[in-house]
Amino acid sequence: MKSVAVALAGAVTVANALATPDLSERHGPPSYHHGRPGKPSSGSGWDLETFTSLVIFGDSYSDDSRLGYFINSGGDPPPVGWVEPVANKSADGGYIWGEYVSRYAGVNKYNYAVSGAVCSNDITPRYFSAIDAPFPALAQYEIPAYIADSKYVEKNGTKFMIDPPDETVYAFWDGTNDLGYYAFIQDEQVEGTDLTTYVDCMYRQMERVYNNGGRYFVLFNIAPLDLAPIYAAPPNDIGANQYWPDKPKNHTLLNGRMIEEVATVNAIFDYRTPFAVELKNRYPGAKFAVYDVHGLMLDIYNNPSDYLNGTAPLNVDGYVNHCNTTGGDCVANDSPDSFLWYDELHPSEQTERVIAMNFIDVVKGASKWATYWG
Ligand SMILES: *[C@@H]1O[C@H](CO)[C@@H](O)[C@H](O)[C@H]1NC(C)=O
Ligand SMILES: *[C@@H]1O[C@H](CO)[C@@H](O)[C@H](O)[C@H]1NC(C)=O
Ligand SMILES: *[C@@H]1O[C@H](CO)[C@@H](O)[C@H](O)[C@H]1NC(C)=O
Ligand SMILES: *[C@@H]1O[C@H](CO)[C@@H](O)[C@H](O)[C@H]1NC(C)=O
Ligand SMILES: *[C@@H]1O[C@H](CO)[C@@H](O)[C@H](O)[C@H]1NC(C)=O
Repeated sequence: MKSVAVALAGAVTVANALATPDLSERHGPPSYHHGRPGKPSSGSGWDLETFTSLVIFGDSYSDDSRLGYFINSGGDPPPVGWVEPVANKSADGGYIWGEYVSRYAGVNKYNYAVSGAVCSNDITPRYFSAIDAPFPALAQYEIPAYIADSKYVEKNGTKFMIDPPDETVYAFWDGTNDLGYYAFIQDEQVEGTDLTTYVDCMYRQMERVYNNGGRYFVLFNIAPLDLAPIYAAPPNDIGANQYWPDKPKNHTLLNGRMIEEVATVNAIFDYRTPFAVELKNRYPGAKFAVYDVHGLMLDIYNNPSDYLNGTAPLNVDGYVNHCNTTGGDCVANDSPDSFLWYDELHPSEQTERVIAMNFIDVVKGASKWATYWG
């Protein structure tokens, strides 16, 4: 198996992130309230009265500093009840979307996302030399870590997580690595698995959280990865890069594959969610939103001036931070908020702010970027 590079593997960044001590502003009283008297009782909205806590599962699109812990520990997971430092230089170059949700809505954040993660290492394992193992995945690491934390009581008798079922939202954003390099796009999945196996895995992880008491779920669909510089079609394509130093030469072919993968998984999410929630009643009493972050990012792509606000000319095909193929000699544009993408693979911080603001509308039950079930 090939080794995979990651954005935040720089030891300095990781050490800085780990040193961030002040989490106090995340524990203030929730400022989120909503009231929508007379809303229909099903299908069209949520009934979350109070948004107190956000629990996140995913990859580098969501990670603060969890992979950093694994790197610094030589592969050991954080202990149960670990308070994860907020990263000010996450994979988007700044704060990650979940941190913005936490700040904008005044909610607690418990972030289990790990850069490099896939849904299951039984489907698309991607070896990471810094920990001499595949990246910790949702199925094998993130969900068990959350379940352990949810049961953890501090020595002074305080429960570690503030997670009342009717005030806690569980967000799932995965797929970037599963569908990408050294995985599905290069036919490197485990024999006998395919895109439906991947989707099955995602619903199984949500079921594990449901079985542990989760009742409000936001399933992010797959970002428009075919527009990310690393998978883009000519003339916006790039060659060998820090993430994919041996990228194959036919970028048209790769782009076409990614278009198919993204569209297929997103169509399955659209139809399978109501099938599982409404027809099969697999999660009684739970509410689901499918967050069309794909549509939102496509809207940024097509209407950048509605969203991007840097001082440089707006740019949706290029990216902020240019590094060499081993991740060194990086040069960042000094107007990052002009860009949709931070680097070859990751959305910019301004894109993540937009995703965070719209996430809060999703949770309020009133977003045009979501479909609601349950
Ligand atoms: C980011 O965090 C590090 C470590 O806590 C800190 O030294 C640095 O000043 C922070 N940078 C910004 C821009 O907040
Ligand atoms: C209990 O300990 C935790 C972790 O040190 C701390 O965050 C919390 O505020 C403490 N609770 C009380 C009631 O002292
Ligand atoms: C690259 O792939 C495309 C799409 O499959 C194909 O049409 C084209 O001939 C390929 N180019 C080369 C140089 O093989
Ligand atoms: C762009 O808007 C965001 C709020 O969405 C703000 O935090 C940021 O500072 C703005 N950037 C610039 C360069 O004005
Ligand atoms: C990338 O930059 C670093 C730092 O200057 C350097 O050590 C490394 O050799 C460079 N890699 C390549 C492929 O040029």
